Amino acid sequence: MAILQLENGTTYTQLSNIVRELVPLNIQINRWPIVDDPKLKAILAQEVLSDAEKEYVLTALNIYFQQLLQTAGYQSCDLIVLHPGVPNLDALLSKFDRCHTHADPEVRYIIAGEGVFGFVRPDGSQVELTVEPEDYISVPSGTEHWFYLRASCQIKAVRYFTTTEGWVPEYTDTEIRLRPASVVSY
Ligand SMILES: [Fe+2]
Repeated sequence: MAILQLENGTTYTQLSNIVRELVPLNIQINRWPIVDDPKLKAILAQEVLSDAEKEYVLTALNIYFQQLLQTAGYQSCDLIVLHPGVPNLDALLSKFDRCHTHADPEVRYIIAGEGVFGFVRPDGSQVELTVEPEDYISVPSGTEHWFYLRASCQIKAVRYFTTTEGWVPEYTDTEIRLRPASVVSY
């Protein structure tokens, strides 16, 4: 369940409040149930997944990709699995923990672990959204944002792409004011 934190210390956990706060950014956030499948749940509880297990996960959750394919023109998806044992994890995460934008939407369905998206709203205010399992989020192209993992460094998420090229960060140099000092970031 997503959690939104504002700069004034207000925290929202109700989806309707979070949706309202993110309206100025045209960010879509929704809750998609994880399919009730014991094998899927067992795989998601593992830290490391084989290629076959990743394929199983994507197949089990294919219903959501089919919806995006038909309604929003998404072309492909993959499964990203991050944990402390991933080679060059620090370097990977450091690409995204500064303010940046993408030419393509950033669309994620969190299925295990957690991560934090930060956003700069049109009025310059900053918010941080913790995303957790069953959270679906679509960040429009051009939205200033950042992303980091909490101390556990664990997340599994399906990524949906509108183009096969994927996306790259374009840095904006906006200073991040929000990140609590107690959070481990990379
Ligand atoms: Fe990004």
